Amino acid sequence: MISDVGFGCFSRKINSGVQLAFQKNLHKEKAASSLSYLDKDVFSSALNQEYKNDISFLGNIQRSIKEAWKDSIVREMIEKSVMCGNFKECPEFGKAFLERIDALCSSKLSNDEIYKELSKFFEKIRPQIDNSFATDDEKRFQRRVGQVKDILGNKKVEIFTDVGCGDGEITSAIGSALKLKKDKVTGLEVYIRPDKTYPFTIKQFDGVKIPLPDNSQDLVTLFTVLHHAENPDGLLKEIRRILSPNGKLIVREFDAKNDSEKLFNVVMDEMLYKVYTSYDGVPVREDGYHSCSEWEIC
Ligand SMILES: C[S@@+](CC[C@H](N)C(=O)[O-])C[C@H]1O[C@@H](n2cnc3c(N)ncnc32)[C@H](O)[C@@H]1O
Repeated sequence: MISDVGFGCFSRKINSGVQLAFQKNLHKEKAASSLSYLDKDVFSSALNQEYKNDISFLGNIQRSIKEAWKDSIVREMIEKSVMCGNFKECPEFGKAFLERIDALCSSKLSNDEIYKELSKFFEKIRPQIDNSFATDDEKRFQRRVGQVKDILGNKKVEIFTDVGCGDGEITSAIGSALKLKKDKVTGLEVYIRPDKTYPFTIKQFDGVKIPLPDNSQDLVTLFTVLHHAENPDGLLKEIRRILSPNGKLIVREFDAKNDSEKLFNVVMDEMLYKVYTSYDGVPVREDGYHSCSEWEIC
């Protein structure tokens, strides 16, 4: 257990259910810094401990939307996330979307086929809901920048890498807030979004091996990436390698407290990458979600 650093974990907000909005840090006393950070020395000693290498005991869900829909607790979470979240400004479409899920989940279709059908349905209604479909992105960027600045305090950052930068919006916002030139900001992605332009150095990587030199980065951020990673341990070791001696890693992850929340989060990811967008190159792991205490152990 890493005793002197916490791990920032969050629950996906289900009562106002926007896809990527989160509740406050569950550790109320740490609410001011809802992200957690590790200095390179603490991080190194934690990583060097033997128990670090196996998180397989954390379990494997192997379930998705069909199974979720049969489970009344998870189904209610999905319904709330649709009606109070993404579709809150267009409830009639939310209701139609849920009816479509219900019909598809009662059919013989597989999970993958259901997501394909939902994607077709979403494409059909998209022109009518484009302005009302809620993503809460702008608020999320601002929150993230504020949290990073709080954690950094007076620490000088001259070069920064965002691992798993997604569409790069948060990366850019942090780079600007730290007044970094574009060539001092790098985004690493396993799936570079084909429809996005990245205003910084963007590099594709295999999810583990980082194409940057040793000791080269003052700050590395890893925001909600670990639950996607097949080899989180290998990725963390690579991040330690590229951090400069006084470098800082800021990590953010979901707190999925039980099997229902784990399954709900997997379904939310699949909705995001297979239905609401066509970013199907983002790997979704059925066993990627863990509770805060499980993350702390590993
Ligand atoms: C939930 S998104 C988060 C994007 C961005 N960090 C944010 O907070 O908006 C996670 C991203 O991590 C990427 N990623 C980076 N490293 C990965 C790895 N080792 N395995 C799987 N996905 C990885 C995924 O492709 C995906 O774009």
